[in-house]
Amino acid sequence: MTVVGDTVDVLSPEVYLDGPPWERLAWLRANAPVYDHRLDDPLLVDRCWVVSRHDDVRAVSRDPATFSSADGIHLRRTATHHFRPNMINMDDPDHSRVRKLVSGGFTPRVVRAFERHYADLARGVVDKALANGGAFDGVRDVAAELPLLAICEVLGAPEADRFRIFGWSNTLLSSEDPEYAPTPEAFQESVMAMVAYAGELAERRRREPGDDLVSALLGPDGDLPLTDAEFEGLVLLLLAAGNETTRNAIAHGLHAFAAHPDQWDVLRSDPAATLDTAVEEMIRWASPVNYMSRTATSDVDVQGQKIRAGDKVALLYASANRDEAAFAAPERFDVRRDPNHHLAFGFGPHFCLGATLARIELRALLEAMVPGIASLELTAPVRRVRSSFLNGLKDLPLRAIPA
Ligand code: HEM
Repeated sequence: MTVVGDTVDVLSPEVYLDGPPWERLAWLRANAPVYDHRLDDPLLVDRCWVVSRHDDVRAVSRDPATFSSADGIHLRRTATHHFRPNMINMDDPDHSRVRKLVSGGFTPRVVRAFERHYADLARGVVDKALANGGAFDGVRDVAAELPLLAICEVLGAPEADRFRIFGWSNTLLSSEDPEYAPTPEAFQESVMAMVAYAGELAERRRREPGDDLVSALLGPDGDLPLTDAEFEGLVLLLLAAGNETTRNAIAHGLHAFAAHPDQWDVLRSDPAATLDTAVEEMIRWASPVNYMSRTATSDVDVQGQKIRAGDKVALLYASANRDEAAFAAPERFDVRRDPNHHLAFGFGPHFCLGATLARIELRALLEAMVPGIASLELTAPVRRVRSSFLNGLKDLPLRAIPA
């Protein structure tokens, strides 16, 4: 195992250029499950506790009174909530108040109403991707498209706006990568562009209400049940949260199917029995969000480590999802894995609001791909996002072999 200087580095962005440092994470789980991590990156805080075991990630997540989200869930020094309040960065009572207002737009019933439409969208995405003799880019042509179309649908945004949304959310979530955030100002510029866009959306829906979340939030007289700043923060969060996350669950999943053709065969041989478990395994395997962080509100002991009030704590979901204590053979990509209590959507009061939506998107995509594709082949090496926050692929050159 490589130790960089005095630190078992699992948080510097460049460590992730070849994928998550699985060996180091396994070492931390076994030897230092709550690890005092130093950082030397101008964008990021200089110290935080790394929590790497499944049990401990759950315990910290379900105790928001001691481990607060209000000072941000990213280890960046400057984050979105410095510009606009958004629920992922709130504690109660604000968190419950805003989440309740929005969750009506995300109940399984509401999201299922989109299901048939998503199946059409997914088929369209797959047909277009395969039009070129089976060669396609798994990220640009497939994985990025469906989540963008889906979030436009939820928010009532025109489909053509997805290209702008793509650019902004890349900059926001992958701000440690110079390709997405070439200047120090790029992060703030994207935040402000999204804030302006939220205002445009509200205005448009006041003029022509539709069957979407923004219209549902606006009262009959066009009033919002939250402050303008909270509404802008909410739209910003929704535009960003459902994009690269779902994109990378799809991209890593397709990558895994290319690397494990036997698992594609299992899926094709009995889709009815395996689609749901395959979707869950793709999400566990991808762990698109590598970590979310918290700030301790009081001195607290976790696994014998003395965490002080004000200390940052990073919850390493990717590591928790490979924890040998929680999963049988966690290094195996197994589309029949059941049970699969992964933590890729987080745990506790901030559990991902878009989980049902993301699952439906992945399922729709697999259903569109399975009948016509005998196997997937990787035709060139992938490029990864330079980030320790987001486990991201920039491209995924694939060839689909027709059935
Ligand atoms: C596979 C795809 C996805 C993954 C891996 C993912 C991951 C996560 C995680 C780990 C959290 C927990 C944050 C915390 O505890 O601090 C979260 C929260 C959230 N996610 Fe997702 N997400 C995905 C898709 C989506 C989609 C499609 C949407 C919506 C369009 C969405 C909207 C949200 C929102 C609004 C929150 C904040 C909830 C709160 O603070 O109460 N996510 N997500």
